[in-house]
Amino acid sequence: MTSRTTRTPLSARARIAALALLVAPASVTGTLAGSVATAAPAHAKPQITEPVPAVVAHRGASGYRPEHTLAAYELAIGMGADYIEPDVVSTKDGVLVARHENEIGGTTDVEAHPEFADRRTTKIIDGVPITGWFTEDFTLAELKTLRAEERLPQVRPDNTRYNGQFQIPTFAEVLALAKAKSKELGRTIGVQPETKHPTYFDSIGLSLEEPLLADLRAAKMDKKKSPVVIQSFEVSNLKELAPKTDVQISQLLDASGAPYDQVAAGTGVTYASMATPTGFAEIAEYADWAGPNKNLVLPRDPVTKAVGEPSEVVDDAHAAGLKVVVWTLRDENQFMASNFWIGTDPNAKGDIEAEVHAFLDAGVDALFADHPDSALAARSTWLAAR
Ligand code: G3P
Ligand code: CA
Repeated sequence: MTSRTTRTPLSARARIAALALLVAPASVTGTLAGSVATAAPAHAKPQITEPVPAVVAHRGASGYRPEHTLAAYELAIGMGADYIEPDVVSTKDGVLVARHENEIGGTTDVEAHPEFADRRTTKIIDGVPITGWFTEDFTLAELKTLRAEERLPQVRPDNTRYNGQFQIPTFAEVLALAKAKSKELGRTIGVQPETKHPTYFDSIGLSLEEPLLADLRAAKMDKKKSPVVIQSFEVSNLKELAPKTDVQISQLLDASGAPYDQVAAGTGVTYASMATPTGFAEIAEYADWAGPNKNLVLPRDPVTKAVGEPSEVVDDAHAAGLKVVVWTLRDENQFMASNFWIGTDPNAKGDIEAEVHAFLDAGVDALFADHPDSALAARSTWLAAR
């Protein structure tokens, strides 16, 4: 059984030392590019070597390729991302695959497969009726006959050229890619899997946690030093996982609402109640990271939609011993606060460098980005200015 000791965030001095290593080439530092050993207090369990601050490729380089495909992950790795992020759901035969949700009508060509027309149905997922096709109604072999499609064709029309080219990868295939690329490139590529709808999958007898741990074990990525962070918007499955794994755990926090497991159990716990000093102290009992919606860190003015001073969220999470990763930074104006817009076209590229700098100035330890190249470039200029 793992005893999870809360971790102390980097001191300002250690952080600057880490940053100095980051801006130096690997040939100079002798370390993996962008990686440092975090300073740990004597009582803490061993720290893994990790980049500070880290860039997590959100669903792969999803700004450039259909999300959650090996092509999207591979592109992100080629750009230099520190971690790749597969969201995971289950197939009918209990295999974890990389999809943002179990409904696959929006991200695959399933609609064009007449042999699966009768699988279209309506289900209640986390209390919400959803109509479409669902991974849990397909075997892995059946899912492999589908091809991925761009989720946001209006926003990212260039990516539609890749529609029909790539399969849905299994979680095991994503781990294998990260391992192979780490070896090939000589740098550590981490993986941040997120369990999607864990309470729902429990309810249909396709629990996500056991296959998740089995896949990590099979890939030998289940060790304390493994560059793996397990994420969830729910609480109870992370508490279940914490004593069963040595890898890091991240509690995601949305800007409104409540974790569905807490809704189902009627606890009254909300994301707002979790994003408090007391809430972070409770999270630190089972997790290493807090993963807030970026609007919790840099709140937007309700009228101007501009961000100003950071909230207390980063400081409060750090005070509890948690590291902080925000989501999700995207190049397009429409996903940004008004401060960062360039022009008025919501699909045009905004000032992603300024947005990244604002979150790094706010003290986050990592960020999720759809366009890892933009985030990495902005990290470099931020580090160089320090
Ligand atoms: O896991 C971090 C971030 O990806 C959470 O949002 O909805 O993109 O999974 P989502
Ligand atoms: Ca996610």
